Amino acid sequence: MKRVFHFGLPLVTSLLLLTACEQKPDFEYYYYEPEDYALLSQYLNLPQRPDNYSTKLPKHLEAQGLFARAVDQDKAILGRVLFYDKNLSKDKKVSCASCHRQEIAFSDDKPVSRGVFDRVGTRNSIALGSVLNFSAYYGTDLFGPSGIPFFWDNRANTASEQNLATMTNPVEMDMKHPEIVDAVKAQPYYAPLFRMAYGDETVTIQRISEAIANFVNAIGSYRSKFDREAEKTIGTEVWSNRERLNFSGFTPAENRGKQIYLDNCASCHSPLQGRPMKMFANNGLDATITDKGVGGITNQPAHMGMFKVPLLRNIALTAPYMHDGRFATLEEVIDHYSTGIKPHPNLSPELRLGSQPRRFNFTPQEKSDLIAFLHTLTDEELLVDKRFSNPFK
Ligand code: HEC
Ligand code: HEC
Repeated sequence: MKRVFHFGLPLVTSLLLLTACEQKPDFEYYYYEPEDYALLSQYLNLPQRPDNYSTKLPKHLEAQGLFARAVDQDKAILGRVLFYDKNLSKDKKVSCASCHRQEIAFSDDKPVSRGVFDRVGTRNSIALGSVLNFSAYYGTDLFGPSGIPFFWDNRANTASEQNLATMTNPVEMDMKHPEIVDAVKAQPYYAPLFRMAYGDETVTIQRISEAIANFVNAIGSYRSKFDREAEKTIGTEVWSNRERLNFSGFTPAENRGKQIYLDNCASCHSPLQGRPMKMFANNGLDATITDKGVGGITNQPAHMGMFKVPLLRNIALTAPYMHDGRFATLEEVIDHYSTGIKPHPNLSPELRLGSQPRRFNFTPQEKSDLIAFLHTLTDEELLVDKRFSNPFK
């Protein structure tokens, strides 16, 4: 049997018993078989009642046609354990969470990531908390060709493809598929978790990657100050003005920053922090092509030097910035857009005037307003959400 629910006595009787005498009521709820839970509890802090991994996005996001898709709860729980398990790497020192740390919105504070044996990668870890919810617009399995692919160069189509690529990448976790399966089989806590998720204890690479995908698909950020304010405006004049009027709960600096953002940044990064307006673009970081980005995958000259347009949720927490982590602070990022954009054959039209790179020439006041606005995109709840925390004791 997959799970047992023991409701020894009806609720009313239990409550009566509770008030009637000191005795503990015979009212228990088991999700796991008691012996399974005892085994799991030797290694893991999992709640006896399972966490709920379904997501309801706020209305201002739903109004943009964005909905979180169903996530399988049991697979997500298994995925959570796998995400934090260092046994899945060659030197047993690296887990997904090594480069995606919850307290900094599932990003990494190094310019480029370091994997097993301290091997140095080539790109900056993408903050999983920059995305409003992976299942709302990521993946060709869920959305066909309009689904946003994974990685800076959009080379993985689905969450499963993404995590398999990472686990086998020599500078990340460096494991072969059979090694991953063996590492999972060797840990006693996986047998009950696989039974809950799949009905039996068989460990396969497909199941492992599907479970991690369910966990990743549940991650998202949608509880920031920006979201609370945007939510309040639905049905009001602010909403019908497509967010151009001031938010009542914002400071003057945050509202000024919002206008500057809408005028100069939203055409790529999304006005309402919904889904990016473009799948990829060149934002003038280099005059020559160093990392080919999307072009390295498609081999098309028109895609050379182009990278995923990231959402900017939690951006204040996820330094350093850009695909190679070249900017240490938001000030440096704004200086880049202000006066540092370089010419490039594929430089996006929004960032050029004719053939020349555009100069926004922001004043010091405008720069600090913009930064004040970017700080409203921080979702403090995600950073402490227990459902996504390290379950290991
Ligand atoms: C060694 C550091 C490292 C480890 C370990 C790691 N990642 Fe990443 N992750 C990165 C880097 C770097 C990128 C961007 C790589 C690129 O675009 O080429 C990334 C990108 C991603 C993305 C793409 C997000 C997007 O918006 O496109 C997801 C999802 C992700 N990682 C999940 C995981 C999962 C799940 C695991 C564990 C199986 C994992 N990562 C392990 C460093 C790491
Ligand atoms: C033409 C589209 C476009 C416009 C307009 C644009 N950006 Fe970007 N932005 C990008 C792309 C593409 C990247 C990723 C580039 C890379 O890493 O190679 C990016 C990256 C960023 C990052 C770093 C994100 C991270 O996770 O590292 C920040 C911050 C940012 N942009 C802020 C802004 C601000 C502020 C503005 C307005 C002043 C702006 N952007 C305008 C396309 C754009």
